[in-house]
Parts: sequence; C-alpha cells; structure tokens
Amino acid sequence: MTVPGRRRPYGVITRGTTNPNRLRRVDNWIVATCGDLLRDAADPLVVDLGYGASPITAVELRSRLAAGVRPDVRLVGLEIDPERVAAAAPAADPPGLTFARGGFELAGLRPVLVRALNVLRQYDESEVPGAWRTMTAALAPGGLLVEGTCDELGRLGGWLLVDADGPRSLTLAARLSTLETPAELAERLPKALIHRNVPGERVHDLIRALDDAWRAAAGYAPYGPRQRWLHAVQSVRNGGWPLLDRPARWRLGELTVPWSAVAPA
Ligand SMILES: C[S@@+](CC[C@H](N)C(=O)[O-])C[C@H]1O[C@@H](n2cnc3c(N)ncnc32)[C@H](O)[C@@H]1O
Repeated sequence: MTVPGRRRPYGVITRGTTNPNRLRRVDNWIVATCGDLLRDAADPLVVDLGYGASPITAVELRSRLAAGVRPDVRLVGLEIDPERVAAAAPAADPPGLTFARGGFELAGLRPVLVRALNVLRQYDESEVPGAWRTMTAALAPGGLLVEGTCDELGRLGGWLLVDADGPRSLTLAARLSTLETPAELAERLPKALIHRNVPGERVHDLIRALDDAWRAAAGYAPYGPRQRWLHAVQSVRNGGWPLLDRPARWRLGELTVPWSAVAPA
C-alpha cells in the first residue's frame, strides 16, 4: 500500500464490483441522519470514495442528497484506479457532480461527509484504523465518514459512522421481504467487525440476540416481516441493548447501536 504523506493516492486498486441501487439503504440513512450536518455546512461538499467500475452509485448519492437535503450539494467521486476515473467522466455534471483520482487522503479535499462503501472490505483488518484516521483527518471540522459493506444487490448491509475520535455507531440493515434470518447480516458486517462474529465478541452477541428474537417473533410472520422485525428489535432493546434509533427506522429494516456496545474485545 502507498503510505500517507506521499503525493500518490493512498490505497490500492481492488475489485470494482458495483450495481445500481446497491447503496440505496445507506443513502437513505445518510439523508436522514447526516442531513443536518450538510444543511448547516458553508460548503456542502461530499466525497464518494471508491465508487467502482461504474459511477452509478455516486450519481445516485448526489441525486438523493440534492433531492433530500439540499440542491446545491457538491459530490466528488474519488477512485484510486485512473481507468475508472476516465470511465466516469461522461457521467459528470459539474459543479454538482465530478470525478477525480484519489485515495484515503481524499485528494486534498475537505468534505463534510465521506461515504466509503465496499472499499475496506478488500483490505486487511489491520489496515482499517489507519484508513479511518487518514480519511477523518481530511474532513472539514465536525465532518463524518460512513464506512461499511453490503451485498451485491443491497439487500443486506452494515455500516459505521466514524468521526475524528473513531467509530460512533454501527447500523445493520436488511430488506425484510427477503430476510430468512438476521444471522445473514453477519456476512456483511464492516471490515472492522466481520472477523469478530465469534463467541466472546459483542457483535456476535448482538447478532445472536437478534436472531433469537426473530425466532421468538415467528408468531408475527403472518402480519408480514416488518411486524416481525419490529417485535424482534423491541425485544432486543428490552433485553438491554442500547439501541440509538427508534421504530421509524426499525420499520425500514434497520437497527443502530453505539460502537461501544459492539467494539472488538
Ligand atoms: C467494490 S468497489 C465498490 C464500489 C461502490 N462503492 C459500491 O459499493 O458499489 C471498490 C472500489 O474501491 C476502490 N478503492 C479501493 N481502495 C481505494 C482507496 N484507498 N481510495 C479510492 N478508491 C479505492 C477500488 O479501486 C474499487 O473500484
């Protein structure tokens, strides 16, 4: 990996897999959760880091933020692969949407928000804290990083909200109509947690608690998976898990806990 401090983008080229609407769940969460940060920003600059072989999810993030938060949002898609930067050029729509080469150092930009989805998944777990530090050091004051993983179609995902002090929260999200069991979410945990779904780790306890509650809520299945999920999450909360979100988000198949509740042992 290229080391920070040099002029070359910091990071390595990895697989460019992406898909339209793959990041819809995390984008909607960003609009709801980070909207005020963007609304209050003097310069509403957002970076989509590692947009992949096609710029489609960057295009979608820009339109969701423009429609849901503020129309003058400026989104810069950064990619470490120069061929992917060239391939994205026809999709640019300046000044609201541009593409450039860059890595974790964010190419000298000072955004208020960075989305880096399915990027760290292909790095070693030991590289995660350094990548977070590099990205958050480049943010505008008070800025936030959303870093996580999802499946190819965006049906299962997990992401962290990270600031200059480190991770704040973990959100798990599922398309409830295709969810067999919450244990499936373990495969899509952010890189910092994906190897921690083992006995003795808190994230393992959380997924097990959710899975047990989902099984216990089987009686609500005839009313639809949303009712079953709502009851399962309520029971996880009743069991003492410090959930940060409310039923309005649970209804969407989400659940958010503080990082301290799931941080690796
Ligand atoms: C799997 S794709 C993810 C695409 C899109 N974000 C998504 O979730 O569908 C990962 C992309 O991240 C890029 N990448 C990896 N490390 C990077 C870094 N340090 N800076 C910028 N891009 C990076 C890779 O070149 C690759 O195109």
